[in-house]
Amino acid sequence: MAQNWTPTSWRQKPIQQVPDYPDLAALAATEERLAKFPPLVFAGEARRLKSALANVSEGKGFLLQGGDCAESFAEHGADTIRDFFRAFLQMAVVLTFGAQQPVVKVGRIAGQFAKPRSSGIEKQGDVSLPSYRGDIINGIEFTEDERIPNPERQLMAYRQSAATLNLLRAFAMGGYANLENVNQWMLGFVKDSPQAERYRKLADRISETMDFMKAIGITSENHPNLRETDFFTSHEALLLGYEQALTRVDSTSGDWYATSGHMIWIGDRTRQADHAHVEYCRGIKNPLGLKCGPTLTSDGLLELIDLLNPANEAGRLTLICRFGHDKVADNLPRLIRAVEREGKKVVWSCDPMHGNTITLNNYKTRPFERILSEVESFFQIHRAEGTHPGGIHIEMTGNDVTECTGGARALSGDDLADRYHTHCDPRLNADQALELAFLLAERMKGGRDEKRMVVNG
Ligand code: PEP
Ligand code: CO
Repeated sequence: MAQNWTPTSWRQKPIQQVPDYPDLAALAATEERLAKFPPLVFAGEARRLKSALANVSEGKGFLLQGGDCAESFAEHGADTIRDFFRAFLQMAVVLTFGAQQPVVKVGRIAGQFAKPRSSGIEKQGDVSLPSYRGDIINGIEFTEDERIPNPERQLMAYRQSAATLNLLRAFAMGGYANLENVNQWMLGFVKDSPQAERYRKLADRISETMDFMKAIGITSENHPNLRETDFFTSHEALLLGYEQALTRVDSTSGDWYATSGHMIWIGDRTRQADHAHVEYCRGIKNPLGLKCGPTLTSDGLLELIDLLNPANEAGRLTLICRFGHDKVADNLPRLIRAVEREGKKVVWSCDPMHGNTITLNNYKTRPFERILSEVESFFQIHRAEGTHPGGIHIEMTGNDVTECTGGARALSGDDLADRYHTHCDPRLNADQALELAFLLAERMKGGRDEKRMVVNG
């Protein structure tokens, strides 16, 4: 076990981004209740994800991580979850085809409720109120009442996570993800987009292959891999009282696990080595993510790696790089070189969303071409350094929203007002997400061809 660590040791450390709960007794009572609730995920599942990520860190797989910036109580519904899952499966199929490698599927879902904010106060006109911090903490409506942190919301977030996870498990294991359905995952609003044609062609090739395999006796009935898929959950471990309440000892190994999700990550604003969030995360055995932004120094990264993964275990740590399209070339190579020099085992993932946010017509948005540009640079830099571009981390939805500009349908700044529904940051819609997957698949195919050329001289 990590030295001098307990599930509560984070409480002795300085902490950023804490909500100002007015009633601390009510907060403690809620946390006590949560501590008695059943775990949402099991340690064995987290271990399975870790071993899949260990393969990715060795260059034998690709991580697809994505979902809402912030899940919301208002948008909780079966259709939203199903449409997200369909868009996600489509991306995964495109990437599997491109990478010719297993794609590790991790949703930002079933627990992604707490948001770090750059300012604790939001000002509208002459009125200043506490910022919205995610549905697990307070309400998004700009009223005094809604913005007061309310511990009851943690129970609602827990229950929503449980219900979401229940449906996702059914989708992943109960036949919906069967590759025989690959032609049916297309979402209505994507059907007439340029991506649809490309996807249909690919789906037809897969169906043909499935028919061939059926003819020789390999079917989804006798090969569960064809009809089921592993789907994991993840979120930012920001609200540590909630995380602590769901931290449990695994009876088989005797180790501590966060049971709020399979993978949790540390945000770019809360990654101080001597602070509470790093303290909490170092003691649990789940796979961890660490957001790496432009202010992270190479030595700072190595210090965090030693704290979070002292045994240098493959699959334990994913570095989620989010520099911005114009900063990635200045920052990624130095981090890669430091990690390589010290022989640290990590998964390199690219979050092309959080460094590319701009304001347009009073909306926070992200130009699709900047997102693509950061991903392209990420791939090029890894090829040049001889390391594996192991994954992508995106904010996306299966709904037909207009939150990021650009893409094949060329959404403009004037379109943002149409269907801007996010509770926090702008997400790719399913059409844009699929377009990104095709681009990635091309890059991965390019990488394979390059390797082949080297091998064949
Ligand atoms: C996020 O992933 O929603 C987020 C806030 O990211 P970051 O910590 O990288 O800013
Ligand atoms: Co976000």
